[in-house]
Amino acid sequence: MTVQTVAIVGAGTMGNGIAHVFALHGYETTLIDLDEPLLDEARGTIEQNLTRQVEKDAIAPADRADALDRLSFTPDTASGVAVADLVVEAVPEERSLKAEVFGTLDEHAPDEAILASNTSSISITWIGSQTDRPDRVVGMHFFNPVPVMTLVEAVRGQRTSDATYDVVADVADDLGKHPVEVDDYPGFVSNRVLMPMINEAIFCVMEGVAEPDDIDTVMTLGMNHPMGPLTLADFIGLDVCLHILEVLHDELGDDKYRPCPLLRRKVTAGQLGRKTGEGFFEYE
Ligand code: CAA
Repeated sequence: MTVQTVAIVGAGTMGNGIAHVFALHGYETTLIDLDEPLLDEARGTIEQNLTRQVEKDAIAPADRADALDRLSFTPDTASGVAVADLVVEAVPEERSLKAEVFGTLDEHAPDEAILASNTSSISITWIGSQTDRPDRVVGMHFFNPVPVMTLVEAVRGQRTSDATYDVVADVADDLGKHPVEVDDYPGFVSNRVLMPMINEAIFCVMEGVAEPDDIDTVMTLGMNHPMGPLTLADFIGLDVCLHILEVLHDELGDDKYRPCPLLRRKVTAGQLGRKTGEGFFEYE
């Protein structure tokens, strides 16, 4: 199967980054979101991020113009996926919402279309079970900022076919990404390894082991991480980190994944990180 036309469902940070990358690499791309102001904002973000790439000489001005020509935006999921070869879902991490979205995609996308999810924590096997095509459901887990980060976790659900896996691995390659094959277990590899580190950094804050700035400095200067774990947690969103830790804790049943009480307290207080202007650090 050759993928030429893609639809991305969800115009938040991940969805607009994913649409950006597909359009830049020659795919006819439709970005779908029921929230029209969010769609407008996504268009502006993509335009700005493409401009940033032109200014950095990463792409030519004509590449930017071509990418924008290949992009369309709609609040209507049914028509947006009607001719898609591949759909990538990037809506918030709520099971009921994923079930509803995948029901709609299964009904309106062509029978042969592949339905991929950018989920960072929900089982691909479970998502597949919400459709009549579990062999064509697969995980395509991108990383923020999508135009910059070159990893894609390509996640095989219990019933994902080899043919489906091969198509998304090839597409990820074509996008200039490095696909890594991952089996369908909670948090896959990325969040299974990352979130306990972030959680432990938050325990260090709670226990007064060191100040947040100093904890991050240990990891940036000592381990050469581009961002310290607390800056990264603020970048990802503390609510997202808490949700992923809860999934790891519930589904793997091991207390080593218990979310730090300080993380819960910050989320309850609405201090969610960069997106709310305050998390472990403050933002303009
Ligand atoms: N679009 C296009 N280009 C972008 C961009 C965007 N949204 N954001 C940054 N860039 C480009 C910049 O133009 C710059 O390009 P050059 O190297 O050509 O100059 C480059 O990326 C670096 O950006 P900056 O100079 O602004 O800043 P930086 O050097 O501090 O890098 C960063 C920013 C890439 C975010 C870096 O700090 C980093 O790699 N941080 C770690 C990010 C990370 O771990 N992401 C994964 C989060 S987990 C996740 O997403 C999944 C999950 O399931 C939770």
